[in-house]
Amino acid sequence: MTFLLAHLSDPHIGPLPKIPMAHLLNKRLTGAMNWHSSRANIHNMDVLERIIADIHAHKPDHIALTGDLVNIGYPPEFPQAARLLTPLGDAEQVSIIPGNHDAYVGESLSAMARAFRPFMLGDDGAGGAPEGPFPPFPYLRLRGKVALIGANSGVPTPPFFANGRLGEAQRARLAHLLDSTRKAGLFRVLMIHHPPLRKGARFGRGLDDALHFEHLIAQHGAELVLHGHNHRFSHMETRGPDGVVPVIGVASASAVPGTPHHLAEYNLMSLDFKTRTIHIERRGITSHRSDVEKIAELKINLG
Ligand SMILES: [Fe+2]
Repeated sequence: MTFLLAHLSDPHIGPLPKIPMAHLLNKRLTGAMNWHSSRANIHNMDVLERIIADIHAHKPDHIALTGDLVNIGYPPEFPQAARLLTPLGDAEQVSIIPGNHDAYVGESLSAMARAFRPFMLGDDGAGGAPEGPFPPFPYLRLRGKVALIGANSGVPTPPFFANGRLGEAQRARLAHLLDSTRKAGLFRVLMIHHPPLRKGARFGRGLDDALHFEHLIAQHGAELVLHGHNHRFSHMETRGPDGVVPVIGVASASAVPGTPHHLAEYNLMSLDFKTRTIHIERRGITSHRSDVEKIAELKINLG
């Protein structure tokens, strides 16, 4: 009665395509400068390839990718990201949500949806609409006894800000989905890019409606919340009606050594429905040339 879930995030797939100046006269200008001055050296696509190969070597039942697939939300970045992520698997096996870099400016999310719609589509066909107001997140996908709920916290923000927001409509639908899946006795895994608790990120990088989110979970619960954004592993907790709700952040899946706290990792999580425990194995690299290996492990009892 276990389900093996691999969680990766923030691959920031590059290199950045050539961008006409007209497309840089907005937040992208600072984002592109940032890419060339630092991100290009931090995010390494060979490392991402090795992480994906290691994920598949463990034959997970499902894979969750929690956003920041690209860097400045420029439309040609998304097909390039889709090509590099092809080895990850098909839409039946992989669930994706956007991050703030995928929602960088107004046109970004529609471009993401054109490349990744099947991976952001709920079982009812809702989610990932290619055009128009970006779609009815959160989506719900059922895989065995697991309910995967994908929310979107990516919104365009001013330069130098990386905050996110769920908004009232998504929170209302989340409440409904969390209730119905709880009644059905499912193991609820909620995916959101931003660390969703108030203490989750420093000023200008967090979830604007984190307090609302905490209230939502206190009332409706979840068995596991997964996020990215901070490019490092983190384990926080909040309370739901049935007990503790773990909130787990994962490092970037493409980061190379040179920045001590930002090495590529992913989490391999074994969900045990019977004992209500989650075993997490952090797997990643420890140097440029190292294999992907076990970094640490922990066990969480949901009570
Ligand atoms: Fe990121």
